[in-house]
Amino acid sequence: MNKILAIANQKGGVGKTTTAVNLAASLSATKRKVLLVDLDPQGNASTAAGIQANEIKNLFNLFFDKTPINECIYKSSDGYDVIPGGQELIALEVAIRENNKQSFLTKELEGLSNTYDYTIIDTPPTLNQLTIEALFAASGTLIPLQCEYYSLEGVTGLMETIKTLSDKNLSSNRVLGIVRTMVDMRNNLAKEVSDELEKHFSNLLFNTLIPRNVKLAEAPSHGVSGIKYMPNSYGAKAYLALAGELIRKVEYV
Ligand SMILES: Nc1ncnc2c1ncn2[C@@H]1O[C@H](COP(=O)(O)OP(=O)(O)O)[C@@H](O)[C@H]1O
Ligand SMILES: [Mg+2]
Repeated sequence: MNKILAIANQKGGVGKTTTAVNLAASLSATKRKVLLVDLDPQGNASTAAGIQANEIKNLFNLFFDKTPINECIYKSSDGYDVIPGGQELIALEVAIRENNKQSFLTKELEGLSNTYDYTIIDTPPTLNQLTIEALFAASGTLIPLQCEYYSLEGVTGLMETIKTLSDKNLSSNRVLGIVRTMVDMRNNLAKEVSDELEKHFSNLLFNTLIPRNVKLAEAPSHGVSGIKYMPNSYGAKAYLALAGELIRKVEYV
């Protein structure tokens, strides 16, 4: 059974793409079959997966040209599969809304339910139709969060949206957990915010902390995940641990 997970937070620069790519790589390292869907017009996850931007087909072609989904799937340099993102997704976002094609992605991914163990969807830093498509399609959402003041702003809105969708039986999505990213425990503020999160969201927090680690930031320019770039780095080890925690959460229930 394909477990579809959205990585979402309306804030930019919180580690969504880094989490999506490194989780995909970590799950793939455990021999699970993984598909990464890049729903961000910026296409950062695709670049980090080693996909060349030219001559790619993506969900835009699937929607407008009826390109079969299998022709939109590429192999990442880490070995997992990728449906790339790119600027065309801006037009796709408008088209889904204007043509009332909500849940378009859900239907497309249903056809792949026997092909993958996990589908990880990276989303743009807004709560637009592309993000909503991911929230509809997913059975769980991970919310990367930086431990700073105001970091929770928007997250409660995202959580309410997910709850509303499921209350109205529009999706079976639930928040799987908040992932604390770019953590630097020498920073007192980060520690304070992290402690506050533990107080208020204890059941919704992943225990694994993702440290600030330059190897994770360098890896995308080499078109690979941090896991492949520097497997012994703190960042890579943290994402492998997060994948382990995730597996226990979604597979051992
Ligand atoms: N744990 C980390 N340590 C160091 N740099 C990181 C880490 N996570 C993300 N970054 C860097 O921070 C920036 C924003 O991260 P990114 O994953 O692109 O966020 P988002 O997708 O939410 O916009 C990127 O330059 C990325 O390489
Ligand atoms: Mg991103």
